[in-house]
Amino acid sequence: MTTIQITPLHTDFVVQVHTSIPDIVDNPSAIEHLRNIWQQSPVMIFRRQALEEAELVRFSEHFGSCDTSVRKDIQSPYHEQIIYFSTLKYSDGRFVGGFAGGEDVDWHSDQTFQIHPATGAILYGTEVPRDGGDIYWANQYGAWERLPRDIQRVIEGRTGTFRYAKRYALLNTLELKDKTKANAMLGLPDAHHSLVLTHPKTGRKALYADPTTLVSIDGLSERESEEVLPLLFEAGGHPSLVYRHKVRNGDLMMWDNGCTMHRRDPMSLDQPRLMKRTTFRLAADRYCVPQVQNGEITA
Ligand SMILES: [Fe+2]
Repeated sequence: MTTIQITPLHTDFVVQVHTSIPDIVDNPSAIEHLRNIWQQSPVMIFRRQALEEAELVRFSEHFGSCDTSVRKDIQSPYHEQIIYFSTLKYSDGRFVGGFAGGEDVDWHSDQTFQIHPATGAILYGTEVPRDGGDIYWANQYGAWERLPRDIQRVIEGRTGTFRYAKRYALLNTLELKDKTKANAMLGLPDAHHSLVLTHPKTGRKALYADPTTLVSIDGLSERESEEVLPLLFEAGGHPSLVYRHKVRNGDLMMWDNGCTMHRRDPMSLDQPRLMKRTTFRLAADRYCVPQVQNGEITA
């Protein structure tokens, strides 16, 4: 068994992993060890990596099959599994990748508005601005534990309604203010997910309540929903549960969206930035994956 050293950065919620990914990407026992670490610690930080895109894809696919974005305009020209976020431009003036603007991004969990969210995520900073853009993760196991017992009883076993239109109204993202690009997303049907996810390996419970998409709690009256939702959102972003990461060139950040939320600080736009991103589908028998079938909660 390959041993990989880790250092806690925030309880056992965030760990720094001391390994060079190109050295272990084709080593099954090292990958198995990382899978075990990730089930306990849903945010893993690998500092100062030097990864080729093919290695980034290979590494991601050890954990789940990669999503290919419908946003062809921000896809890597070399690997369809990778998308770019960047302040850089091609010579014709187009941005090299998605351009999220310099403003901050609210607490959220990725793809919660999808009926079947892909919950594994890697962000690899090949060129990182010196100022701003810090990324924060909030521990949703801790959020569940912070909730008062009566609120836990109200939401356990219940689903919520998650809607892209709520996020759209909150977005700072300049490019998505273009309605034609956003229309396909705005036409998505509502997703209904369990508000409490249980990790299949550890049995830990996590709150699954994305403030940017969750509009109501199924089975409660509008008034009851309006009373309970702010309590969930407050618990989800509680400062005691938050790890702040100052990103540096070469940092690779990997997180499980089933038991974490994240946000980002405003960024300086006059500095070069190129972040490479993969999104991959985690298996429900190994990770906290929201699953609802025919209205029945199966996990
Ligand atoms: Fe995100």
